[in-house]
Amino acid sequence: MLAGKRIVLGVTGGIAAYKAVEVCRLLVDAGAHVVPVLTEGAEHFVGRTTFSALASEPAQTSLWNEASPIPHTALGQSADLVLVAPATARLLSAYASGYSHDLLTNVLIATRAPVVLCPAMHTEMWEHPAVRANIATLRARGAHLVEPEEGRLAGGDSGTGRLAAPARIVAEVRAVLARGADLAGLHVVVSAGGTREPIDAVRVIANRSSGKQGYALAAEAIARGARVTLVSTVDLPTPAGVDVRRVQTAAEMEVAMGDLAEQADVVLMAAAVADYRPVAPAAGKLKKDQGVPQIVLEPTPDILAGLGARKPAGQVLVGFAAETSDLVANAEAKLARKNLDLIVANDVGAPGVGFQHDTNAVTLLQPGGEVDTVTLTDKRAVAKAVLDTVVRIRSAGADHHPRKQTEKA
Ligand code: C5P
Repeated sequence: MLAGKRIVLGVTGGIAAYKAVEVCRLLVDAGAHVVPVLTEGAEHFVGRTTFSALASEPAQTSLWNEASPIPHTALGQSADLVLVAPATARLLSAYASGYSHDLLTNVLIATRAPVVLCPAMHTEMWEHPAVRANIATLRARGAHLVEPEEGRLAGGDSGTGRLAAPARIVAEVRAVLARGADLAGLHVVVSAGGTREPIDAVRVIANRSSGKQGYALAAEAIARGARVTLVSTVDLPTPAGVDVRRVQTAAEMEVAMGDLAEQADVVLMAAAVADYRPVAPAAGKLKKDQGVPQIVLEPTPDILAGLGARKPAGQVLVGFAAETSDLVANAEAKLARKNLDLIVANDVGAPGVGFQHDTNAVTLLQPGGEVDTVTLTDKRAVAKAVLDTVVRIRSAGADHHPRKQTEKA
């Protein structure tokens, strides 16, 4: 996976810079083409000659390189991945704010390749709210973090903040490259959150969906090179590059999804759509002195079943099933009834699973009877498993013939 990959190895000015030498060697040994970019601070710890001797190209340190008048765009655009090890608090701050004052920060801002950051600093710095905020910002924008480890730090101190072991860093680089851009060129449409159906001007019928699984799917899809549109009822931080359409009701979601799904390659219907809505929401606020309201409900449209009935050839349509009993049987019935290629079922009664949690555990069911399970893990890892399965379904479809449009079962 590393062979032939062009990796910019950014090294910043922390004592752990000496370990970046080992990272460089491991990457080159695995066949990667490594271009070291050192900050001024890094050169106080390790000389550029060391990196130049081990890497595939001489180390670069300056924006003002006469051989290449714009080294940052050339390096950023040609990289398959940019790795920063160690990443100091200063580098994280500059990258988070877009303050591109040297070659490495310019490369980071100029690149569209995946970025892997390996912070290393004293525990007090690692725990400082400014550093925590920068890490959160960079993660939300899609950077991959290799968390520092606990152990001995410079000056005889110990605690969390030690650069991750070189082998762990290289393993993360491999994992990020393996996922690579397997959704490049595809349009992925994701729905997220619970719908809100008005009772009157101030009250709604809602549900417990937080939208976190849908946002994790959107973040994972964009990290894998897709163009992503998120149809959302909630206001969570939007992953960089994702186009968001805000909706509230099932009716609004039906219109948005109907428009987008016509041209989409993958549709992930993660939203919790209300099954019923008030027939006639009151225009104003219902008053107590009007007595106990009798709210008459009507069914909402089944958006997913509609998309299944009109599914274009080659599209992969994924539904979600939140169940509290007979998980597999109920999910299988929905898979067939809604003409889906995959259903992601979760037992929302189990601890840590489904609505509002950061974690999830799911069963993935396909029409051929193939079943996979993902045990309790964070929602981003569930998103990875779902998109891995989508990629497999697409390549199996391409091996046969384009999927035919089928009638709603
Ligand atoms: O039948 P059930 O509501 O359990 O199916 C869940 C799946 O169907 C989810 O993917 C959900 O987004 C979708 N759904 C829908 N429209 C509805 C109800 C559910 O698209 N009215």
